Amino acid sequence: MALRQIRVQGDPVLEKVCKEVTEVTPRIKELIDDMLDTMYEANGVGLAANQVGILKRIVVIDVTGEDPMVLINPRIIESNGEQTGNEGCLSVPGKTGVVTRPNYVKIVYKDIEMQDQELAGTELLARAICHELEHLDGHMYTEKVEGDLMNVADLEPVEE
Ligand code: NI
Repeated sequence: MALRQIRVQGDPVLEKVCKEVTEVTPRIKELIDDMLDTMYEANGVGLAANQVGILKRIVVIDVTGEDPMVLINPRIIESNGEQTGNEGCLSVPGKTGVVTRPNYVKIVYKDIEMQDQELAGTELLARAICHELEHLDGHMYTEKVEGDLMNVADLEPVEE
């Protein structure tokens, strides 16, 4: 297992547009394994390659902790509905904010064998897909926060 350093907001790599993957080389396989390790270690539900400093269109997502998804060159082809809720990002540690997203999205992507795949998701999965795909285009959820960005610590109930 190899962990990579998660870049935090302010790092220019998070504002860059990532490049399409044309071939899954051993190096890319290693990157994907490291991205999954890094995401789980940080208790995240998703991670984009530029969050570990690599400008490639690769995203890993696992919203249940038991269902790792690797999405290469993902693209949204359909979206529907609306959900409004709290969102956070491993590149913006300790913060959360309210973001409105589609409640349903369908994407096309390539799997690790570079085969075309399709995936539809609702609720948290739809939210995670939208959030991670925006990273690949150099965007952060903080651009979309409604109201103030809050400290996660302030939201947790205080025990007396
Ligand atoms: Ni993020």
